[in-house]
Formats: sequence, structure tokens, C-alpha cells
Amino acid sequence: MKKIAVVTGATRGIGLAISQKLSQDGFFIVGISRADNQEANDSWVNSLSNDCRLFKCDVTSLLAVEEMIAKISELEGSVHLLVNNAGITSDSFFHKMSLESWRSVIDTNLNSLFYITQPIYKIMKENGGGKIINISSVNGQKGQAGQVNYSSSKAGVHGFTMALAQEGARSNILVNTISPGYTNTEMMKNIRVDILQGIKDNIPLGRLAEPKEIANVASFLASDCCSYITGANIPVNGGLFIG
Ligand code: CAA
Repeated sequence: MKKIAVVTGATRGIGLAISQKLSQDGFFIVGISRADNQEANDSWVNSLSNDCRLFKCDVTSLLAVEEMIAKISELEGSVHLLVNNAGITSDSFFHKMSLESWRSVIDTNLNSLFYITQPIYKIMKENGGGKIINISSVNGQKGQAGQVNYSSSKAGVHGFTMALAQEGARSNILVNTISPGYTNTEMMKNIRVDILQGIKDNIPLGRLAEPKEIANVASFLASDCCSYITGANIPVNGGLFIG
């Protein structure tokens, strides 16, 4: 029986590294991507070690998510794992932040968790268990000037984890958060060079995280070695925030 892992925001950055690592671990990866870039999609499929499928889906659209869940239900195998990774930034100081910027970040980073997790959680309950990993951020833990929208959404992600972990435990569904620090992905290209340098100077380990370093933690949480951790928030931030 195939063990299916659903990964959102799968084709780039942390989502790509998680897809690759979990594929090496033997999961059948169902990647979810908003982008319609054939080249990127082909390269995602080719970079995985196992059978996989990539579905195009805008996670902010309930209708699109429902269609995608119907396709997953038709696959052979059962959904063991969901990784809610899709996320965006839209940084500006709060006094200049547009309502659109607020809404798009909350929709993508937080409301999508409701749309995607609820149907998969129900499937996991029927199957007798499963695991959910939500990707938050160090900036959901410590807050970040210029990111009132993003910090709110990412703090909300861990609230979601803590509450659902309590509900899911009796159905053998473990729910955890990973909070990456600043990670070497395309998201960093949106930060002005001088500001990024200042951020790096403040990281005790003196460098950005590599996506693989986040994926290794996801791999552990997804593995059978991890059977008694639920509701936790695992920081992977090079010491930037020690709470
Ligand atoms: N608090 C208050 N005021 C501040 C400030 C702070 N922390 N930092 C700067 N300011 C002031 C500046 O001194 C400046 O004042 P003056 O005009 O009086 O000189 C003013 O605010 C404007 O500063 P900027 O030039 O930085 O403003 P901007 O509008 O060009 O840029 C910004 C604003 C886009 C938010 C920019 O500061 C920025 O990119 N900051 C970094 C935000 C950040 O860390 N984003 C993380 C993205 S990666 C990610 O999110 C992944 C993850 O999970 C970690």
C-alpha cells in the first residue's frame, strides 16, 4: 500500500527539499503547486526518487482544493502525511500596508490550512491515524517589523497546530509545527541586500539555513521514530530566536 504524503508549495525552496527528502524516505509524494510552469514541474518530478504526482491548485481557493482532494482520493494508497508549506510574504510597514497585502498573506498562509487540512484530517481519522506538519516561521514566534501580516499568519499556524494536536490525539493523528529561520530560498531575493546582511549578522550560527536542513526535521517528524511528539513547535533558526 502506497504511503502518500501531500506537500503544498512543493516545487520550490523548502517545499522542494521536503518533497525530495520524503521521497527518498519512501513516500509517494503528491505535490501541490500554484504555478503552471511545465519546466519547473517536470524538473520537480525528475528530482524525486519515487513515484509522485504534481497537481496544480491555488490553495486560497476552496473550490480548487476540493477538486484536488477528489483527485487524491482516486489515487491508490492512503494519505499518511500532510505538509502545509505553501506561503508568501508581502512586506511593508504596517502604516503603509494595503488590505490586499494583509488578505493575500492571511489567505495563503493561514486560511489555506482550513481548506486543505479539514478533508485530509477526515481521511486520516477514517484510516486510523496520520501526521500533519505545518511550516510556520521564526517570525511567527518573535514578530518581525515589516511583517505584521506574515507574523500574524505564522503565529496563527502554530495556534492551529496546538489546537488540532489536542483533537487529533485520540485518532492517532500527530500535528506539529516547524518554524524555520531565514532560509536560502527565492524568498530572500525580495529582501534588500543591506537589510539581509543585517539579518545574517544577527543569526548566531552566522548564515542562512539551507532548505535541506528544514527537510531533515520534516523527515524525522514524518518517520516512525517520531511517535510521541504532538503539538510541538520545532525551531530551526540557527539560534536567531531561543524561546
Ligand atoms: N522598526 C521601525 N522602523 C524601522 C525599522 C524597524 N525595525 N527598520 C527600519 N525602520 C525605519 C527606517 O529607519 C526608515 O526610517 P527613515 O525613513 O526615517 O529613515 C524607515 O523605517 C524606512 O525603512 P526602509 O527603508 O527599510 O523602508 P522600506 O519601506 O523601503 O522597506 C520593508 C520596508 C520592506 C519592511 C523592509 O524594511 C524590509 O524588507 N525589512 C525586512 C523584513 C523581513 O525581515 N522580511 C523577512 C522576509 S523572509 C521571510 O519572511 C521568511 C521567514 O519565514 C523568515
